[in-house]
Amino acid sequence: MTAIPIRNFCIIAHIDHGKSTLADRLLELTNTVQKREMRAQYLDTMDLERERGITIKLQPVRMRYTLLTKDKGQTTYELNLIDTPGHVDFSYEVSRSLIAVEGAILLVDATKGIQAQTLANLHLARKQNLTIIAAVNKIDMANARTVVVKNEIAHLLHIDPSEVMEISGKTGEGVEKLLERVIEYVPAPTPDTDDTLRALIFDSSFDAYKGVIAFVRIVTGSIKTNTHILAWATGARGDALEVGYFSPRLVSSDTLSSGEIGYIATGLKDPSAIRVGDTITSVSMKGRDFKPLEGYQNIHPMVFASFFPENGEQYDELKDALGKLHLGDAALAYEPESSAGLGRGFRVGFLGMLHSEIISERLTREFNLKLIISVPSVEYEVKLQNETVQFIRSAALLPDPSRIKEISEPIVQLEIISPPTYLGAVMDLVSGIRNEYIATEYLGTETVMLSYRVPLAEIVTDFYDRLKSVTQGYASMGYEPVGMKSADLVRLDILVAGESVEPFARIVPREQSVRIGRAMIEKLKVTLPRQWFQVVLQAAVGGKILAREDISALRKDVTGYLYGGDVTRKNKLLDKQKRGKARMKAEGKVDIPHDVFLKMLKR
Ligand code: GTP
Repeated sequence: MTAIPIRNFCIIAHIDHGKSTLADRLLELTNTVQKREMRAQYLDTMDLERERGITIKLQPVRMRYTLLTKDKGQTTYELNLIDTPGHVDFSYEVSRSLIAVEGAILLVDATKGIQAQTLANLHLARKQNLTIIAAVNKIDMANARTVVVKNEIAHLLHIDPSEVMEISGKTGEGVEKLLERVIEYVPAPTPDTDDTLRALIFDSSFDAYKGVIAFVRIVTGSIKTNTHILAWATGARGDALEVGYFSPRLVSSDTLSSGEIGYIATGLKDPSAIRVGDTITSVSMKGRDFKPLEGYQNIHPMVFASFFPENGEQYDELKDALGKLHLGDAALAYEPESSAGLGRGFRVGFLGMLHSEIISERLTREFNLKLIISVPSVEYEVKLQNETVQFIRSAALLPDPSRIKEISEPIVQLEIISPPTYLGAVMDLVSGIRNEYIATEYLGTETVMLSYRVPLAEIVTDFYDRLKSVTQGYASMGYEPVGMKSADLVRLDILVAGESVEPFARIVPREQSVRIGRAMIEKLKVTLPRQWFQVVLQAAVGGKILAREDISALRKDVTGYLYGGDVTRKNKLLDKQKRGKARMKAEGKVDIPHDVFLKMLKR
């Protein structure tokens, strides 16, 4: 059997520039999915993805396409497409897809032009030495700026504008030509150097019957059903119960050969046995001189938040759910945590804010968990007077100020891309956070890029939403960590009836502590239900009170239902009320309802 020529590629683009829609057209064009089965954004399989219209998980698919050649001959190609997410938080997913392919379609929306993730993804693709095929999408739209955007892309890639393809994923115009260009320009996988099985794991999922399913790119050798396999780094052994490819559902086939993308059902029940970036080989290689494939970069979560089940009995369920999500999302990190007020939970690490929102929504929807989530925090490096260093991800864990010598926080290079019209609005917004201006650069006439250095903590809460709102959605942003920097930071405590409420504690710049503290207790004042006694709300730093609000006591007319004159009875009731109040006052405890936490922690 002569092997079918293979092309492995992915589509990279900024969010909403039309990757999934283009993928739909490719699935139709290659008859992978019949037109009548087609629904928009076919590869986005999670409910959440379809609702929000964004791609979270990469989803591989194999297609066949027959190309007529000039001499009337024809060749059928096997095309493996990996759809990638475009959002700022998911570049890790993108880099995993890129390592499994040889080429990338760089797609840019003709109405929007180059945006932050266009650049970030292009940068990743270049690092991987991928062949890049540029295309302007949505040329059917009335406000398409096709020529301008083609020029921008050409400038960016140092190519001639005529080399940038024009397509519409919606009408299908230009899509066939684009596919043919992929076949022509994207190199076939490099032929085998040896026939030892080396399969690179780029993703995984779990099936109750088939165990952990490893998504792989076969780099060398081949694998058949029933091969005894070994995951090199973890040392886990199993049997390839089934091998096959994505159509996009799993289709079993006898063999997967070098250059192909497919899956191996390992039968392994322990999710940690199969790790993204590891190499699968045959058990016979154990103990032999074997060189595994280069793994992926290690990823570090950037944003942390505490998750507590509303109902403490759901702790184990939460643990289980996080384990399952982690399986398909190597970037998700978590460790147990406990809090005096909220019981047992987890401190969860994310790549960014959208990532954290997606995870909390999935936990709620797919696992029916009701959660209390803390304000997101970054990781601080705290040097103590005795020269030891601690990494702190939660304000509650910050040591006493007298023990601290220096606190450093992560700094990122922030790039904001916007049409020049909004330059003023963007600069205004940035001036509201701690920042160090770096440069302004024009990418063509209609796109400008501003770069800054800012503390990550300044942009993790709602900066992105605010940027979108001051630019009517036109600006986009990306960021990359550039190191740690020391800063004058303090722990801000919020006290309710004299007691610090842990989940409300935050690490803030000293000069902003009064403003932030005041804002928090003002919000708490209107959120916390009134009590039988007066409740004092305070914001404090290191025992010093910065701001105070009072919630006046509730007075309920306990005698209201008594008619007429029995004074003794009336007094008795008032007395009873008084004693009750005194008791609560003596205890001084305010039971903070869960929804108050939810409201306070919401941005
Ligand atoms: P993410 O996966 O979230 O990064 O988005 P995406 O790049 O996959 O974008 P998607 O395909 O979901 O398209 C975004 C929106 O643009 C959808 O509403 C599409 O219907 C629309 N769209 C995509 N391509 C075209 C096109 O060629 N013309 C027009 N008019 N609309 C398009």
